[in-house]
Amino acid sequence: MESSSVKFLVIGSGIAGLNFALSASKYGNVLLITKKRLIDSATAKAQGGIAAVLDPNDSFASHIKDTLVAGHFKNKKSAVEYLVKNAPRAIARLESLGMKFDKKARREGGHSFFRVAHAGDNTGAIVEKTLIKAVSKNPDIEIREHTKAIKIIKKNGQAIGIIAHDEQKNCTYEIRAKAVILATGGIGQKFKNTTNPKISEGDGIDMASSAGASLKDMQYIQFHPTVLFAPKKPRFLLTETLRGEGAKIINENHEQFLKKYHPLAELAPRDIICNAMWKEEKKGHHFFLDFTHKDSKKTKKDFPYIYKNLKKYGFDLTKDSIPIAPAQHYLCGGIAVDLSGRTSIPGLYAYGETARTGVHGANRLASNSLLEGLVFTMDIPKELR
Ligand code: FAD
Ligand code: SIN
Repeated sequence: MESSSVKFLVIGSGIAGLNFALSASKYGNVLLITKKRLIDSATAKAQGGIAAVLDPNDSFASHIKDTLVAGHFKNKKSAVEYLVKNAPRAIARLESLGMKFDKKARREGGHSFFRVAHAGDNTGAIVEKTLIKAVSKNPDIEIREHTKAIKIIKKNGQAIGIIAHDEQKNCTYEIRAKAVILATGGIGQKFKNTTNPKISEGDGIDMASSAGASLKDMQYIQFHPTVLFAPKKPRFLLTETLRGEGAKIINENHEQFLKKYHPLAELAPRDIICNAMWKEEKKGHHFFLDFTHKDSKKTKKDFPYIYKNLKKYGFDLTKDSIPIAPAQHYLCGGIAVDLSGRTSIPGLYAYGETARTGVHGANRLASNSLLEGLVFTMDIPKELR
């Protein structure tokens, strides 16, 4: 295959890559490549939703404080403020593309308010489909599926393109671009137990690091406490919004032990819950998520995706306590970027989970990740306009 040249080369078709492609298409031609199908992304697996201050009784100050507290104040404050203050605009953008959120917001761990905008209990799939629809009908965006970026090409210290591999034609070729955009997602597949899909292999971070880009906060790996843990079953996530609606974490003796560790108990930030579970595990305990005290009709209506999948794996959310354990979920660090997504290499930009903007600090607040992928890709860096 021959080499090609574009203004924007976007690598990845999750929320960050798709939304960047839409924003960039106003300023030049975009080529978006993705290593599997467009839909294959962590974004499409997201359950809980997108955090945003949309209720007049809530406030930016509260969302900012919750983000900083969850992040143990290791966050970059200017990035947190930018994230939170642009959240309503990001939600409005999705709505303008046809996304419909449920009327009542939900709550997740670490949030002082019901501020998680959601569409049922598989919000990510609907966000992903909404963005794919918009990108697919945009004449200035070319899409190449099954095309994997394998190396960044540099000239005089600047990123000028990549080497790509077409997995169906089994050929390797160069793509030159004015701006190379990494939106390749997380690193979950580097762990034995993860909620992440197969595509989350850390490719963008590996390529950027090999090209000499700075990485930051790579030690801040987030684990999610409520992941299905049963022999021969996948590590299926049980959304934190279940706890927002009253789900309990109990041990084999039906003891709700989290109150010993944090006054918010089930609604404490994730790292605190995971640490509590590890301490209890050392004492020989194991854990279950229990939602059986809730009205079963309402459970099936409010959490149809979780209910259906658990049934497939042999559990009934309305009748059984579900065996759980923490699993790797998210990388808070990544490729160091400024508020416009610029990396330390001119011409190379990074967005979404692969980037480290500083918004998450040492531990991400629930539902701030889809938000980050949206907010930081709404405005294109000045030099690229
Ligand atoms: P992704 O959505 O992972 O997309 C990465 C893309 O890059 C994919 O298309 C992939 O195929 C492509 N790619 C990777 N490497 C290459 C390569 N070498 N060449 C070409 N293409 C490549 N966050 C929230 O805020 N709210 C939630 O409710 C929520 N729930 C979650 C539930 C689950 C089960 C999981 C796993 C995560 C959840 N998260 C949630 C986190 C959030 O979904 C992710 O952090 C976010 O979707 C990342 O978006 P992204 O665009 O950066 O990456
Ligand atoms: C969940 O729904 O529990 C995941 C939310 C997130 O990762 O922010």
